[in-house]
Amino acid sequence: MEYVWAGIIFWYLIIFVYKTKTGSPTVPSKDTQIARFLKYVKRGDNVADLGCGDGRVLFSTAKKGASGEGWEIEPLPYLYAVIRAMRKKNSKIKIHFADMWKADLSKFDVVFVYQLTRYAPRFVRKCQKEMKRGALVIANTYPLDGLYLLKKDGELYVYKIR
Ligand SMILES: C[S@@+](CC[C@H](N)C(=O)[O-])C[C@H]1O[C@@H](n2cnc3c(N)ncnc32)[C@H](O)[C@@H]1O
Repeated sequence: MEYVWAGIIFWYLIIFVYKTKTGSPTVPSKDTQIARFLKYVKRGDNVADLGCGDGRVLFSTAKKGASGEGWEIEPLPYLYAVIRAMRKKNSKIKIHFADMWKADLSKFDVVFVYQLTRYAPRFVRKCQKEMKRGALVIANTYPLDGLYLLKKDGELYVYKIR
């Protein structure tokens, strides 16, 4: 039994260290922030949440008739999101247990991100390289300098790819 616990702790340590190099800790978006975000999502849109946590942002977009994909690297929020998607029988939501930096952003109309500022330059380059013209990038709390800012809406920064 000790080996199992040691294995779990070791695995978590690896993920923790990895996340300090690639993204933020798990802090969920607030309901007010999600409500604001939904103003920018239309029925039929394809939405991505990079580092989707428990999937709350994606489940809300699904209520608006959008489809969505999330990437999450931490096992517990990932499992929670997958179970939620199964219980809701929601085929419009796909959650990947994978590194968000491997996501191909070319097919998304709206990309949501809530990661610390220090990842912004790398993230901006990824958006500029992969995303289609007219697509939106919405960053919670931490700005993404280098993208075209359409609007600051509360704690959200709304960018348009040009
Ligand atoms: C601030 S939380 C935001 C969660 C969710 N997007 C929300 O708004 O409620 C950031 C999430 O990104 C995840 N994360 C950090 N680095 C990641 C990476 N390289 N790949 C996938 N997920 C990552 C963390 O585990 C965490 O759940």
